[in-house]
Amino acid sequence: MQKGVTLWFTGLSGSGKSTIASNVEAVLKDQGLKVEVLDGDEVRTHLSKGLGFSKEDRDTNIRRIAYVAKLLTRNGVLAITAAISPYREIRDEARENIGDFVEVFVKCPLNTLVARDVKGLYEKAIKGEIANFTGVSDPYEEPLNPDVVVETDKESIEESVAKVLGTLAERGYIPSSIVSQPVEAR
Ligand SMILES: Nc1ncnc2c1ncn2[C@@H]1O[C@H](COP(=O)(O)OP(=O)(O)O)[C@@H](O)[C@H]1O
Ligand SMILES: [Mg+2]
Repeated sequence: MQKGVTLWFTGLSGSGKSTIASNVEAVLKDQGLKVEVLDGDEVRTHLSKGLGFSKEDRDTNIRRIAYVAKLLTRNGVLAITAAISPYREIRDEARENIGDFVEVFVKCPLNTLVARDVKGLYEKAIKGEIANFTGVSDPYEEPLNPDVVVETDKESIEESVAKVLGTLAERGYIPSSIVSQPVEAR
């Protein structure tokens, strides 16, 4: 019987949370495990529709994600969250409420993110066209004791996925027979 856990990704916009999360999801689903992804961008279009980017709204958004992740986790699902989740206090609150919790810090220096600028948001944020942009004009509090750190400016997607799977296996949440062989990025 599968033991539930929340795999909590945190990191700046464009750091690679969604990319790594969806690859981890694909590998685990392929092995027949129950997996749900709560992706920040997607959550903001339904569960958190109407919320903005003030500290209060960000905290509400993360608390909603944590609440759903908790329900999934206690029902034996491997819940993956992929939202910036900039505030340490709210992440720690999620960890405390959920219990089975693995925090993944998706680390990437700001200059790499600005150069990558996948969604074209950093350019706008730097020009002042987007307010309260995490890492530019809004805080990001790095985790002090993350369970896994992936450095996406140094590692390949495959290496980062393997690290995450390795930790899940080490902690007994997935069988160690699951090879860290990610499918193509989707
Ligand atoms: N090692 C890596 N891990 C994850 N993403 C990477 C890596 N190297 C380059 N990238 C690229 O960085 C971008 C990350 O975007 P995304 O996953 O949407 O970030 P986030 O969800 O954190 O905002 C993607 O275009 C991805 O292909
Ligand atoms: Mg994303």
